[in-house]
Amino acid sequence: MEQGKFPRHYLEAWGIAKSFKGTRVMSDMNFRVERGELVSLLGPSGCGKSTLLRIIAGLLEADEGAVVLGGREITRFPAHKRNVSVVFQNYALFPHLTVAENVAFGLRARGMAKSATGAPVSEALSLVRMTEFADRPISALSGGQQQRVAVARALVVGPDLLLLDEPFSALDRKLRETMQVELKSLLLDRGITAVFVTHDQEEAMGVSDRIAVMNAGRIEQFADPSTLYARPASPFVMDFVGLSTRISGRVVSSDAGTIAVDTAYGRLSARSDVTVGKDVLLGVRPELIAVEAGENTIGVPLTDVMVLGSKTVLHGTARGGDRILCELPGIRGGLKRGDAVTLGWAVDDTLAYEVAP
Ligand SMILES: Nc1ncnc2c1ncn2[C@@H]1O[C@H](COP(=O)(O)OP(=O)(O)OP(=O)(O)O)[C@@H](O)[C@H]1O
Ligand SMILES: [Mg+2]
Repeated sequence: MEQGKFPRHYLEAWGIAKSFKGTRVMSDMNFRVERGELVSLLGPSGCGKSTLLRIIAGLLEADEGAVVLGGREITRFPAHKRNVSVVFQNYALFPHLTVAENVAFGLRARGMAKSATGAPVSEALSLVRMTEFADRPISALSGGQQQRVAVARALVVGPDLLLLDEPFSALDRKLRETMQVELKSLLLDRGITAVFVTHDQEEAMGVSDRIAVMNAGRIEQFADPSTLYARPASPFVMDFVGLSTRISGRVVSSDAGTIAVDTAYGRLSARSDVTVGKDVLLGVRPELIAVEAGENTIGVPLTDVMVLGSKTVLHGTARGGDRILCELPGIRGGLKRGDAVTLGWAVDDTLAYEVAP
């Protein structure tokens, strides 16, 4: 490793490049995780999440770059020489073995005598609340129970790093939410460093300290959930993490960090340093919009009013590629499709991105 580049981070994958059959899917990827952090890789299908995870696990070799864990470079270590556990989407359990035998497998593979595996296996099963199922075959378990066994099997070896590739995707929504809460508190309690792969933004926001939003083999933004949501670094991140009202326009004036933008709905302002004459995309999170005039105000007819219980979502008539969304807390009667409404929000809540004309 080059002098002066010695990493200060617990996990560091830097300068990673990977091609498959001559097609570059990742280049100069830099990804850092601190000890005890729970981090998610979030992005659309094919953006390279599993590829990065597999390179960290040693299941795939990078063409360029290095992987460092706990101060040790492990780039050339085979998977079984890295103390890294992986939980896959399909759990990859052995169906003919019992729950306890599955959990013991990693310990046995590391040379532990069968007689010594009892205590750590019991502890791991108790952690995931599967003690009573120890002697059941895997084939006699539900999806959620299998998921717990996969987690127990990953944790029993005391990994330096836990990698999870879409661990909940086979579960229904209710069970997925329960498992997310359980796994997060388990990892936090034990101080385990973990990287989750997901393409579910709510899952990423719910389980992670930080989220790396990936797009086409690059990390577009790596930040905590609140920053990602409130200050997305690009239109891609804004759209991938949550919904927003989107209005396109052109900057007509700029004064001390505030721009005025001409749009199909009139003139709107944002804090931005995009220069006069440039095309911009304005974004506002729907729950920051009120049905009354604000610093920025537009008037639109409603195309839909969706009462969802915990919130009511208003859809305004959009022009071109624009989208008008306003979210009000709770059940809001009195508004219906076709009503002309005034929507307003603060200049500080207005995101602005320069876009190609
Ligand atoms: N073994 C392989 N051979 C050829 N191309 C591959 C291989 N593995 C991955 N790729 C390609 O690399 C890119 C990244 O794939 P990867 O599996 O990392 O995506 P992902 O973000 O995990 O997607 P998903 O959410 O669908 O799991 C994709 O374009 C994929 O087709
Ligand atoms: Mg994948």
